[in-house]
Amino acid sequence: MNRRNFLKFNALSLASLGIAYANPMQSHHMHHSVNHTNLNTSFINFAPKNLKLLDPNIFPQGEMLKALPLLQNESKKRNFFRAKIDIEESEMELIKGKKTKFYTYNGSIPAPKIEVFEEDVVEIIVKNKLKEPTTIHWHGVLVPPEQDGNPHDPILAGEERLYRFTIPKDSAGTYWYHPHPHFISSKQVSMGLAGAFVVRAKKDALSHLKEKDLMISDLRLDENAQISNNHLVDWLNGREGEFVLINGQFKPKITLSTKERIRIYNATAARYLNLRIQGAKFILVGTDGGLIEKPLFKDELFLSPASRAEFLISVPEGGEFKLESLYYDRDKMMVKEEPSTLFLADISIKKENIELPKALKQFKPLEEPKEFKEVIMSEDHTQMHGLMKKGEEDLKKALASMFLLNNKIYDLKRIDLSSKVGVVEDWIIINKSHMDHPFHIHGTQFELISSKLNGKIKKAEFRALRDTINVRPNEELRLRMKQDFKGLRMYHCHILEHEDLGMMGNLEVEDNGND
Ligand code: C2O
Ligand code: CU
Ligand code: CU
Repeated sequence: MNRRNFLKFNALSLASLGIAYANPMQSHHMHHSVNHTNLNTSFINFAPKNLKLLDPNIFPQGEMLKALPLLQNESKKRNFFRAKIDIEESEMELIKGKKTKFYTYNGSIPAPKIEVFEEDVVEIIVKNKLKEPTTIHWHGVLVPPEQDGNPHDPILAGEERLYRFTIPKDSAGTYWYHPHPHFISSKQVSMGLAGAFVVRAKKDALSHLKEKDLMISDLRLDENAQISNNHLVDWLNGREGEFVLINGQFKPKITLSTKERIRIYNATAARYLNLRIQGAKFILVGTDGGLIEKPLFKDELFLSPASRAEFLISVPEGGEFKLESLYYDRDKMMVKEEPSTLFLADISIKKENIELPKALKQFKPLEEPKEFKEVIMSEDHTQMHGLMKKGEEDLKKALASMFLLNNKIYDLKRIDLSSKVGVVEDWIIINKSHMDHPFHIHGTQFELISSKLNGKIKKAEFRALRDTINVRPNEELRLRMKQDFKGLRMYHCHILEHEDLGMMGNLEVEDNGND
């Protein structure tokens, strides 16, 4: 039995016992001395034993979907967006008679949506009213590194900062924003911090259509309707909150027309979505970084954590439908799942005539790469051996050195790779671990060129801009990209627990001396 299966099956009894791993009586001997300079495990918290979850029946459900609230532009100037975001603890009464403590952007769950245009100047004043550091990372938006909420630039508790950037031309797309502080991004997202960020083109092939956002997040609530800490299994696989919400609502009713442009966001820490509407088809029109070349009909829409898409819906006839997520086996550790379909929402679809343009966007001819990079994703299970006998401290240490990129855990101060401004590169991302990991890089939108699995090379089906892409076990992806700004960027697994545990690297982008 390989190590993987050992972990997966011998430890099953542990998983089924719930959270019986935290036995303080056994937390003594340390087997290995760990010499990672950055090892800090104080941020790893475990949920109390025998956690009881909230009864799903008391969570309000079946209500009409509300649009996301908008972040108010306080500027009257043209091409200028100015707003305030306060980050604070808020008590929200989601469940009647029970107040849930969230972290919020401007006191709102779901967070306000930011909507700007290409070439806008954006100024956002952020006040951190939490008791811990945070940052705002504008995931996927092409902003300079010093404005991108890097973990190196925390907004400390009680402090305030201005983020200022100009939205580049031709960067219309479906983005999002979330915290990116060192070690505690997953916690802050699980507490409620994540918002939609749309960059509009003044005109594109679909700008005449009405739009709808479907922001998917998930939430874990204990029986008192409080957001609880992670289990060990959450740290291993990424946390999947039991309540999957759309625009903050549980199992809402959505009404749609076949003439609507829908933007969907996977804003969960770790939940894989494989969406289906039985009896209908998705017409994929865009990915993370904007429109694709031409519309593509799909029965299923796969969205790994942090990915976004734009689509329309096609039905032979209008009527009542269900939005569901089909089971996706991402080979989690220590859990054995029964494949099951997850119901997300009732959808009533109105059929209207629409003539979709044959071409959505013209892509420039693909440039040839001048440089190559390799990123290997792996997992070190050695310290997890004897898991059942381990105490909390040993477990934390094992976790904090388990998820690796190019054999290392993240160090804020170490430069792992370097690139030059404007130089086209191919990045080869190789997953040598036993689990799926979504790869994300800051500061650019890349194109998938090809993928390789079990010796078979597959060219990308279509051209598309993305900033996050799933990598399956043993899979190898070739991504083409370039960086436009000098400075420090991160690349990491976007299962947020893995990111916090150190599955991340620093990319230094240097001036290109040639021009
Ligand atoms: Cu959305 Cu560095 O991440
Ligand atoms: Cu990002
Ligand atoms: Cu991962």
